[in-house]
Amino acid sequence: MKTIYMDNAATSYPKPETVYQAIDNFNRNIGANPGRGSNQQSLKSGSILVEAREALASLFNIADSNQIAFMANITEAINVGLKGILKKGDHVITTSMEHNSIARPLYAMTEQGGVEWTAVPCAPDGSLDPQNIKQVIKPHTKMICMLHASNLTGTIMPIEQVGQIASDHGVLFMVDSAQSAGVLPIDVERHNIDLLAFTGHKSLLGPQGTGGLYIKPGIDIRPLKEGGTGSLSEHLAHPGMMPDLLESGTHNTPGIAGLLAGVEFINQTGINVIEEHEAAMTELLLSGLDAIKGLTVYGPRDIKRQTAVVAFNIDGIDCGAVSMMLDYEYGIITRAGTHCTPMAHKTIGTLELGACRLSPGFFTTPEEIQAVIKAIATIAARN
Ligand SMILES: Cc1ncc(COP(=O)(O)O)c(C=O)c1O
Repeated sequence: MKTIYMDNAATSYPKPETVYQAIDNFNRNIGANPGRGSNQQSLKSGSILVEAREALASLFNIADSNQIAFMANITEAINVGLKGILKKGDHVITTSMEHNSIARPLYAMTEQGGVEWTAVPCAPDGSLDPQNIKQVIKPHTKMICMLHASNLTGTIMPIEQVGQIASDHGVLFMVDSAQSAGVLPIDVERHNIDLLAFTGHKSLLGPQGTGGLYIKPGIDIRPLKEGGTGSLSEHLAHPGMMPDLLESGTHNTPGIAGLLAGVEFINQTGINVIEEHEAAMTELLLSGLDAIKGLTVYGPRDIKRQTAVVAFNIDGIDCGAVSMMLDYEYGIITRAGTHCTPMAHKTIGTLELGACRLSPGFFTTPEEIQAVIKAIATIAARN
């Protein structure tokens, strides 16, 4: 049985061939620690970090690539952005569709750190009216922090309008781009983004264990860890300049070599080509699911308003059982449950039920989508 991978929202698979090659080449032929000495191998290793920062800067229209710090994933990046900036008495605004990587740090900060948090309600299809953000801004609001696209419903958020509102009110704007970077255009200037958190292993097509944070020059941020950076080593005080300020300890250089290859693949292919392919696969999927009786599909159900993420339930069958049947009987890989986003499930009305999620990627074919629709129709008809 050939596997059909429909879980790109969790992590993209497969990766472009060049990503596998870049990781292998680093491990076999370079291997040295970047920025830890001036031997030729170490310089080669360091140049991978420079090239990866440059490639990401070009993708996100970032003027100074040194403002990008590499981290293990977007969860770390968001934690640094929130905990490195917000202080006791600050107010922060999010939407009601956030992933736990925003919700859990904020919950902890409100419980223990004296931070005030307002989560603005979204509609049952996950969409946000940006005016609702404007209405809850207070004199002590420090930051608006929100995702660009939902990992449950694919709903695309109006980050351009919210970025404008943040800028007009002198409030920092941090974006969680986990479900959009590499597939939707992101422009930190046009979207007024002060902090952009990204993860390398989803639609940026890199390996797991990569991600990072862009921070606009001039914003004060406290690092969450200090240590070796290879720079200013004679001082006990941690360096204050980016990216060293937020990068302590040896990098995941093999991973970043793979991430560089992933971003180069996106830049060469064209983000619009990737977006169009994923939209075509999503449209095919939505129209096929629409014809199946006893099925509820969540979210906008409109490719202009969502990414390649489709959540559904079959009446009377537990979503976990549906996911297992798809896996064991048809070789179709999906994710069921609450997807690390109880807030979004509450918003769309599925907190008790959960849902089964399908997420095609750039390498998904129309034949695979047809096979998925057929399998779901067969399972639904058994009921
Ligand atoms: C919207 C969103 N934010 C954050 C994350 C966390 O990503 P990571 O596990 O790479 O830190 C995810 C991953 O599922 C996500 O979909």
